[in-house]
Amino acid sequence: MRIGVDYYPEQWDRNMWFKDAELMSRTGVKIVRIAEFSWCRLEPEEGVFNFDWLSEVVSVFSNYGIDIVMCTPTNCPPMWMYEKHPEIIQVGRDGNRQQIGIRGHRCINSPIFLEYAKRIVSEMAKRYANNPTVVAWQIDNEPEAYECCCQSCAEKFRCWLEDKYDTLENINNAFGNVVWSGEFTNRNQINPPASYNLAWQNPSMLLEYSRFSSDCTAAYLRLQSDLIKQVNVKAFITTNASFSGNTPDFYKLYDGLSFVSYDNYPPVRINENYDEHFSASFFLDLMRGVKRSNFWVMEQLSGSTGSWSPMSPTTRPNMLKGYGLQCIAHGADTILFFRWRTALKGAEMHWHGLIDHSNVLGRRFFEFEQFCKISAKLDSITDTKIISDIAIIYAPDCASAFKIQPQSDGFDYLRQLQQFHKAFTKYGANVDVVGPDADLSDYSIVIAPALYVYNKNTVENIYRFTMGGGTCILTCRSGVKDSSNNCIMEQLPTCFNELVGAVVSEYDPIGNTVQTITDNDGNDYSCSIWCDVMKTDTAKTYAQYADSFYALSPAVTLNNYCKGKAYYIGTVCEQKFYSDFANKIMKEAGIPRLRGMPDGMEVTTRTNGVDDFIFFFNNSEKSAVIGLPKPLYSLIDGVSKDRIELKPFDMEIVRK
Ligand code: GAL
Repeated sequence: MRIGVDYYPEQWDRNMWFKDAELMSRTGVKIVRIAEFSWCRLEPEEGVFNFDWLSEVVSVFSNYGIDIVMCTPTNCPPMWMYEKHPEIIQVGRDGNRQQIGIRGHRCINSPIFLEYAKRIVSEMAKRYANNPTVVAWQIDNEPEAYECCCQSCAEKFRCWLEDKYDTLENINNAFGNVVWSGEFTNRNQINPPASYNLAWQNPSMLLEYSRFSSDCTAAYLRLQSDLIKQVNVKAFITTNASFSGNTPDFYKLYDGLSFVSYDNYPPVRINENYDEHFSASFFLDLMRGVKRSNFWVMEQLSGSTGSWSPMSPTTRPNMLKGYGLQCIAHGADTILFFRWRTALKGAEMHWHGLIDHSNVLGRRFFEFEQFCKISAKLDSITDTKIISDIAIIYAPDCASAFKIQPQSDGFDYLRQLQQFHKAFTKYGANVDVVGPDADLSDYSIVIAPALYVYNKNTVENIYRFTMGGGTCILTCRSGVKDSSNNCIMEQLPTCFNELVGAVVSEYDPIGNTVQTITDNDGNDYSCSIWCDVMKTDTAKTYAQYADSFYALSPAVTLNNYCKGKAYYIGTVCEQKFYSDFANKIMKEAGIPRLRGMPDGMEVTTRTNGVDDFIFFFNNSEKSAVIGLPKPLYSLIDGVSKDRIELKPFDMEIVRK
């Protein structure tokens, strides 16, 4: 396992670089990420490049045997560029250009900006793409699907639509533009979204704009990646993923890149109501699922977070180490902590790194040092795989469509995915979170919550998977929209009717009102957000509503379909429902379950095909003790043990 840090040499005096490299080396740091915001120092004037300082930084780290992740600095163009070409700045939905002075506000579709970007990336690649110390590249920083509304974007969007739909007539039909007399008669009438409430705008157009924005971001990354690869075809290239208001489609984003890396800032507060607490492990499983292989964490939580919000509580004892190990437990093989030093200057000075402003090494630093030591013992785990019987499908199109039309009060697509993830991982199962086009043939259970927007591949894969003997779980708001984000003249869940063996005869968007469902064993569970009133055909009822005018109507159904089974959960339930449900269907599917685990105990397994490495992570504020059926070798302590005692946020790893 390789542990590293994010470092900003341009923010510190040159003499600190040497001291820092020496301290990093003593601490166990093996890799450092640099340069993502340093354009103004690399090209201080147009066409005048200064790479001397960066080359010196590379050699300082190289002398200590520390590898480098080199970043392209294109997130933050220098001031001279904005001054000369204000047209490279993003335009908001209100038609106004952003003000300059922060970061990430250049338009990635601006031809002028792209020329500058290509030149700086080529200059960097020329110098570092064949440097053995530079083991990986990060392109830009946390690229979003920006949804800029400048003229370059508007024109590119027109071309993108024409490419997809050929004629204005096809666009008008697909978007239903006749509604409110919105039919285009000239391509120049096509424009990016306007500033008024999304609810007033055409949902087809909005979904296409978010797809377009993801495509543009992916193309922008690919452009940079190609330039680096022109110099070194084997260059190992990524960008750092994050969830934001404009989360891009990660499956498109990483398609042209070598590997996935993620910025991981798990919560420092554990919700006292454990049912309401969701582990960051969901996002780690999602990142592993993007390329269905191990990934890196490019930024990892180091302390109190702040700057964009009031400062959070600091990381509790063991948390920094525990969350680091949690990444490894979910498939990360390299983890870099954000950041080595807390900034003294700039907007981010309250987002804490490993070393505080005082420059006095403290508790968090020593915990990091301990984490480096533990990770050094885990080389036998590097490149081991996580094999899962269970998959949850995450569909970026659905996430975007729900953002455009939020359905009912409290409706939260990602939360619904997390509820399932929490339920199945509670029993020690590895769970993959995979994309809409993923091959499902390796799984026994596939959960596809709220598959709202039609995707032919996903639908066919789910049918094929179930026909072959798999168990699939669908939920309310499935099959609602065609691929253009329009409703369908058919009973819900439309394309899934045959599979589910039931239809929705009526639905009730109850929002935050709480009602009850009762399963066939007489267990009651609360539900809210949405109620699909089901009418069964070949399906049987698994649970029924207890309230409202549809009391006694089916709420959850089960259909035997060819060799498999299809469950349909027509409502959004309390967490206990999902836990009990997971327990039952894992048993039916013959997937081993660890029962009686304390709340917050996360158990995952990595394997090399011969040995299994089992991770026990106490993601809670209470100590826990677990008995093992037989003594197993602990990779942390180097002894065999049949009893695991874990303080809050402690991790144990045993070999089986
Ligand atoms: C990330 C970003 C970093 C830094 C960090 C803390 O989203 O990539 O540059 O800003 O958050 O705020």
